[in-house]
Amino acid sequence: MSAITATAGLHTDRNLALDLVRVTEAAAIAASAWIGRGKKNEADAAAVEAMRRAFDTGPIDGKVVIGEGEMDEAPMLYIGERLGAGGPAMDIAVDPLEGTNIVARGAPNALAVVALAESGHFLHAPDIYMQKIAVGPGLPEGVVDLDAPIGENLRNLAQAKGCAVSDLTICTLDRERHAEIIVGARAAGARVILISDGDVAGVMATAEPESGIDMYVGTGGAPEGVLAAAAMRCVGGQMQGRLVYENEAQIARARSMGLTDPHRKFAAHDMARGDVLFAATGVTTGPILRGVWRSGSRAITHSLVMRSKSGTIRYIRAHHNFATKTWTGL
Ligand code: FBP
Repeated sequence: MSAITATAGLHTDRNLALDLVRVTEAAAIAASAWIGRGKKNEADAAAVEAMRRAFDTGPIDGKVVIGEGEMDEAPMLYIGERLGAGGPAMDIAVDPLEGTNIVARGAPNALAVVALAESGHFLHAPDIYMQKIAVGPGLPEGVVDLDAPIGENLRNLAQAKGCAVSDLTICTLDRERHAEIIVGARAAGARVILISDGDVAGVMATAEPESGIDMYVGTGGAPEGVLAAAAMRCVGGQMQGRLVYENEAQIARARSMGLTDPHRKFAAHDMARGDVLFAATGVTTGPILRGVWRSGSRAITHSLVMRSKSGTIRYIRAHHNFATKTWTGL
């Protein structure tokens, strides 16, 4: 039995949180070199490589379960890849650059993201779409539901928050497929913030009062859904997700990844179970984190690291000096 299972938790190494932040910092700094250069693949590759390298020194025996793809389609951080220098056995969910287009365009909201859980505790989500809905902490369980019309969700949320629907703001990806949500929300009286990409940040924004976003709703990547669920577990927010299939092959793929009911509606605690660690570093500035600041051989990063069991959220502002540090891949 692994050390982590034997001791039932991630508390075997309390420094793990800092190790995790080093990993997202490395990815964010590497990606930041590509902000505004119109090259999303290069930005992604830089983040992947830096994150992969940073993991090498981490004190874990990790296995990627949410990653860059299958072994034959991703040279690094592929599903099943082993990471770390040895330690407790853990599953790893990564998105080295959440918002490749964002970085290419120099737009807001890009993050480098990692989550850790005990082995078998993340939903093994295939790289397909997922319907998502999320609200922040402190609200009655089930106040919003994936299967309720947007107007009903907004009225229930307004009642729970003691405000009018016109005081509420939802966030969704700016996609044609969300036309019904957008029209319905506006018709109910709410504001709609449309983001070009980056729904992990969109979901997380519901838990940050200063973001002004009360609800995230819409369809985006399933791997991003699992990462967002890990974040919501740590902040005590609510989230539901359901996989969206475009063909029978995708359903078969989901079953082969261990999903007994591929059409199930998952809660955050179904997608990221048990004790979860989550870290993110801002690449470009968004409602949760500022982006990477760079000047000459220096950079400043802004990260957060959180843990579901303790509910602790740490914000870390780090100053990096590339004259003395070379592992960022710059
Ligand atoms: P990438 O960083 O992989 O480009 O993903 C960005 C993103 O906007 C995610 O945040 C979101 O879940 C997904 O793409 C939406 O997919 P699509 O662009 O196909 O609507």
